[in-house]
Amino acid sequence: MTQDTQDTVRIVEVGPRDGLQNEAQILDTETKVALIEALAETGLDYIEAGSFVNPKWVPQMAGSDKVFAALQRKANVTYAALTPNLQGFERALAAQADEVAVFAAASEGFSQKNINCSIDESIARFKPVMQAAQQHAMPVRGYISCIAGCPYDGDIAPSAVADVAARLIQLGCREISLGDTIGVATPEQTCEIINCVAEQVPIEQLAVHMHNTYDRAIDNIEAALALGIRVVDSSVAGLGGCPYASTDGTNGKGAPGNVATEAVVTLLNRLGYSCGVDLQKLLTVGENITQQLYTKAPSQPH
Ligand code: HMG
Ligand code: MG
Repeated sequence: MTQDTQDTVRIVEVGPRDGLQNEAQILDTETKVALIEALAETGLDYIEAGSFVNPKWVPQMAGSDKVFAALQRKANVTYAALTPNLQGFERALAAQADEVAVFAAASEGFSQKNINCSIDESIARFKPVMQAAQQHAMPVRGYISCIAGCPYDGDIAPSAVADVAARLIQLGCREISLGDTIGVATPEQTCEIINCVAEQVPIEQLAVHMHNTYDRAIDNIEAALALGIRVVDSSVAGLGGCPYASTDGTNGKGAPGNVATEAVVTLLNRLGYSCGVDLQKLLTVGENITQQLYTKAPSQPH
């Protein structure tokens, strides 16, 4: 498929958060900041730069306040952060994040393992976050994990995803990112889920967040684009995953990586979409961070 007129797709770069949160090696602030600044130089204009969760749960993100403080920001770039609750939001506010994201799940099992509460409880926790965000004119993105399958609960009905999406939109989220956390979706399922969610939430407010466990993420993104999705999450060099989403149901082992931003840019170029990202620069950033993670400390598992 080639576009008649150049249609724009926004890439949400989640490498510094979703990537690094699941790498065995914890990078120092300087290296994280250099990565984020290099990503911004490639033309990416939305970067999830950190996460204000309990550092005991995700030690890799413990220094996010220092990362935000040290960043040389570009005016046209949004630097976002995850916030699971009001405490996280207050930390993000103090760090001057441009935008925050709350994260829910379509499955009870994953909600419990990831944020230690039920889906209903998570929605209740987000309410004060949304109120505080509104007071500070801070836009909020909403994630839904396990849209196609859960490592603990198995298959997930598209209607369960649509239900959580509708609740997050009602709370005031400006966009919902649909997360295939363990990468089990097929293109057909991806379409089924998006069509079902789109009955509740306009397609312009939906994004896809595909993990690449079974090498289907790019096919799933292509299917999503054909349905009108124009926001795609990805991680430079395909780093990371989610530490609370093992594919075998064992808490803590982690889901294989996100879809690589380099692969998404290549797909968008092939299909004729514009995304404003310089692929050559991005490849260099990916090579550098991969080298730093995997060749500096050869004795560490990865
Ligand atoms: P909890 O233990 O139920 O929280 O955890 P609590 O409110 O009972 O508090 C317990 C302790 O945590 C207290 O400290 C709080 O101060 C502290 P203590 O008194 O014991 O010393 N605490 C915090 N500290 C710092 N920042 C905070 C915070 N909140 C409480 N914001 C909680 C609940 C949500 C905090 C915890 O479960 C948590 O941090 N979970 C985060 C897990 C996570 O980060 N997962 C990965 C991100 S999600 C993801 O990757 C999926 C996604 O990519 C989409 C997809 O792929 O599907 C987005
Ligand atoms: Mg993820």
